[in-house]
Amino acid sequence: MATLKVRKLKSIPLELTVPGDKSISHRSVMFAGLCSGTTIIENFLPSDDCLCSLNAMKALGAEAEILETTEDGKPTKLAVTGHGMKLAKPGGPIDCGNSGTTMRLMSGILAGQDFASTLFGDESLSKRPMKRVADPLSLLGASMKGLGDKICAPITILGKKLRPISYQLPVASAQVKSAILLAGLQASGKTSVVEPVPTRDHTERLLAHFHVKTVRDGSTVSIYGGQKPDPENLYVPGDISSAAFWLVAAAATPGAQLTIKNVGLNPTRTGILNVLVRMGAQISDYVEQSEGEPRGNIVIHGGELNATVIGGQEIPNVIDELPILAVAAALARGQTVIKDARELRVKETDRIAAVAQNLRLMGVHVDEFEDGMEIFGGSPLKGAELTSFGDHRIAMAFAIAGLFAEGVTEIENTECIATSYPNFVEHLELFLNGSTTGVDRIDVINRMPRGFADRNPQD
Ligand code: S3P
Repeated sequence: MATLKVRKLKSIPLELTVPGDKSISHRSVMFAGLCSGTTIIENFLPSDDCLCSLNAMKALGAEAEILETTEDGKPTKLAVTGHGMKLAKPGGPIDCGNSGTTMRLMSGILAGQDFASTLFGDESLSKRPMKRVADPLSLLGASMKGLGDKICAPITILGKKLRPISYQLPVASAQVKSAILLAGLQASGKTSVVEPVPTRDHTERLLAHFHVKTVRDGSTVSIYGGQKPDPENLYVPGDISSAAFWLVAAAATPGAQLTIKNVGLNPTRTGILNVLVRMGAQISDYVEQSEGEPRGNIVIHGGELNATVIGGQEIPNVIDELPILAVAAALARGQTVIKDARELRVKETDRIAAVAQNLRLMGVHVDEFEDGMEIFGGSPLKGAELTSFGDHRIAMAFAIAGLFAEGVTEIENTECIATSYPNFVEHLELFLNGSTTGVDRIDVINRMPRGFADRNPQD
């Protein structure tokens, strides 16, 4: 079991480029595999999770040619060839690893196929609720069976000829919305999903990229079945959820300046920028490419952080960033409240319990609620022995906490980082050891930004 040891931050690099977006990478290979023809995908995230989606599509008849790899041989540019919406029956059960996105979106795709298929995952994924997709997919006409009341993996999906539905989502979930839209694409007629709160819209944008229309009317998104996705080459922007770790490290370092380059700036994902501005960071984001999935640069200047309240409509937009925002809250003056975030309890681990336990071990007072927590920030963090709970975002959030703690912070079980950010530790080294592109922290402190335009918190 890998243990990550982190000590105090030495420098903040001037710029960083994070790997491709996880949500977009999943969808890129799935949707390319539904086309008739070849799509070239660039800046694909070769993380364990996204490779599960790629392997799932290969098991269903798509082909993938690797065009470029990382130094350790993982694909970053690939040509995916699909043979249309009618997929091949897989030779056996499909392994979704740790990936809820793979299991839920693939369920929507498999719901309309004319064969039965089984999806399984690791211990963590096998505890996560699949009933939220099983319910709407059975209304569409498919059968989805799993274990217990929560319909947990392994799940078996018997695809059917689907009928369109109109479905009000009981929880705000982009994965469930996407599963319904992908099943709706195979139904005859118009399928609609009503969202209680807006969630990330990558499925809608990427379907449009592949020439499949969805229609948005207020909180309802609809799709007409029978449309055929067509290949269109795709570039995956950097993942703002991965950038989040470095944004918080810079935000909490007075005088620091960091540019994150070529990162996704889809407004359904940039909530973290608004939260950090409210807490006192100065941020500018520059969209350089606005078609499809917007991408560009983020420039952040650190300062003394103050507490804030995170809740309501904002939650789905920052759902994956809440562990690192809880760390930001521990570094901020005052009491930060995170509320309306019950969904955190059913992520890769119970992220409310995991964050509260680790922060307490570092000497932070935390009150835990069913749907969030209150973090009493501002007192010095102390190094501690922590666990990741097998959850990539907990591991990385507490590596950042370790950069601000006295002494050494040890995080056990950090292999899981490869789920979303395979070269995280390499980037962390830039903060621990300094780098040729970095500047010494003292230098940075002497270069306080002047006249830097505040990001409008209302943006
Ligand atoms: C995702 C949606 C979110 C998010 C997950 C990725 C997606 O999950 O937490 O990391 O790619 O659609 P929910 O749909 O469960 O909110």
